[in-house]
Amino acid sequence: CGIVGYIGELDAKEILLQGLEKLEYRGYDSAGIAVRNADGVHVFKEKGRIADLRGVVDTAVVASTGIGHTRWATHGVPNFKNAHPHASNSQRFTIVHNGVIENYHHLQEEFLTDVPVKSDTDTEIIVQLVEYFSHEGMTTEEAFCTTLSKLEGSYAIALLDANDADVIYVAKKNSPLLLGVGKGFNVIASDAMAMLSVTDHFIELHDKEIVLLHAKSLQIKKLDGTRVTRAPYKAEIDLSDIEKGTYPHYMLKEMDEQPAVVRRITQKYEDACGELTIDATVMNAIKAADRLYIIAAGTSYHASLIGKQYFEKIAGIPVEVHISSEFGYNMPLLSKNPLFIFISQSGETADSRQVLVKIKELGYKALTITNVQGSTLSREAHYTLLLHAGPEIAVASTKAYIAQVTVLAIVAYAVAGTQDIDLKKELGIAANAIQTIIDHKEDFQKVVEDFLATTRNAFFIGRGMDYFVSMEGALKLKEISYIQAEGFAGGELKHGTIALIEDGTPVIALVTQKEVSLNIRGNVKEVVARGAYPCIISMEGMEEAGDTVVIPQVHPLLTPLASVVPTQLISYYAALYRGCDVDKPRNLAKSVTVE
Ligand code: G6P
Repeated sequence: CGIVGYIGELDAKEILLQGLEKLEYRGYDSAGIAVRNADGVHVFKEKGRIADLRGVVDTAVVASTGIGHTRWATHGVPNFKNAHPHASNSQRFTIVHNGVIENYHHLQEEFLTDVPVKSDTDTEIIVQLVEYFSHEGMTTEEAFCTTLSKLEGSYAIALLDANDADVIYVAKKNSPLLLGVGKGFNVIASDAMAMLSVTDHFIELHDKEIVLLHAKSLQIKKLDGTRVTRAPYKAEIDLSDIEKGTYPHYMLKEMDEQPAVVRRITQKYEDACGELTIDATVMNAIKAADRLYIIAAGTSYHASLIGKQYFEKIAGIPVEVHISSEFGYNMPLLSKNPLFIFISQSGETADSRQVLVKIKELGYKALTITNVQGSTLSREAHYTLLLHAGPEIAVASTKAYIAQVTVLAIVAYAVAGTQDIDLKKELGIAANAIQTIIDHKEDFQKVVEDFLATTRNAFFIGRGMDYFVSMEGALKLKEISYIQAEGFAGGELKHGTIALIEDGTPVIALVTQKEVSLNIRGNVKEVVARGAYPCIISMEGMEEAGDTVVIPQVHPLLTPLASVVPTQLISYYAALYRGCDVDKPRNLAKSVTVE
């Protein structure tokens, strides 16, 4: 979910709506705003997208204070009733909330047995509690703080009080939230991008802090009332980076940017002599570890699997890669001197953050590699490195994956300190290879028409590095085209899953690993013998007559940078062909800030 708020002199509606549009990548199940003027608080909400919300906002209502929300449903189905903002029964208090309140049912039983509730959400319980405590004689600030002190779980909250036009009450714990400062106004937002059109100066908010946000001032306090002062920083994001320009979709724009991303990263990680290197402190922390534990989710997990190959093969450091939602609750036996590496495009994924919190409690050190400077995971880890991919807006990750693989190769290479491979040169060749594939992107339209037009399911197979890319290819296809897909190790398919191969089942095989190229071709023959329709993506030097696509040759360690691109393009055109919403696929959110 994403939240925004504005208090100032201008009409808040459009600022809130535009802010929410920028936050839609966080969820788009329903959306709403609440604005306050002399007549009171006006709530507008709707199931669906911000575009749907615009349809129900009364343009005649003018108000200079407001809060807004775009939802990725957790408690309660995505419908009008469960859409934020939620109001207390007297309508005095109105709230938007991102996060999950774990003990909401318990709080409801303890305090609100006589209070009828209108929705199925944990959020409504928060606002009803504020009202409950204010009926007990507390001021709004006291009622807000008392409520917060009883909440277990995560929250980023903005609250309006119909009796007080001059303030928005704000609070944060375990969910991202920034304050934005301007001349004559202040704002809040789940991320800086949402409010970049009105200000580029932001103040970080820490967990268990509250804010009294006024138009011309703001007070940050701890829950016990202690005042906090914190200077604003300037967000280094260019507004043009977050516009779609002439592209029909952000995903296409972001795939097109991939060669430039690889080149930009090599520049950012060059030292004065033009050698690829990383910060010495980070380097020493990695060298001091006897084992690296890489923690990630989704596409970042798939990039991490490639990263393990780099650390082990280039730097000789053993690595375990773990899915973040599993690791925190089922930790393996750790080595004596581990270092944790968190890979996350957004730097906000709650599943990864809970692991970071736990391993810090255990006294271990962490490095975060993220695309978002100042994000929660980067702030809270001991060390951080940036991906430099530029803002990624499409929900399906493409250029961030390319950036993760590139940065992981550079880190492993820098730590190894070997000259066996001229990584800078090889990354340049990989960037050119990506460019060549992108220049022929229309070829993949035909691949989709031939292979995926009417299919219900598909398989991606590969061996070695290609296996990991197969998993990412399958994830991308599932995410945006809704074709059921599985990425498989070519040799493992025959141990069960081959039972799913029927006449015409598409099997996309990646052939970029020389030492196993004959083996994977053997696996293709096995599925073809059972009726599969093969789409073979091979690398120059390993191609055979009849291959569907041949991609340019790159260094064996860097093949994922090239071989992932055809799978991205296939997914893109499959989604287009099937009329799916490429940038905002159903049920997903780009940044999942709940566990
Ligand atoms: C969400 C997104 C995925 C992403 C994953 C991890 O599920 O939809 O595309 O890979 O989160 O995100 P992160 O920001 O931690 O890389």
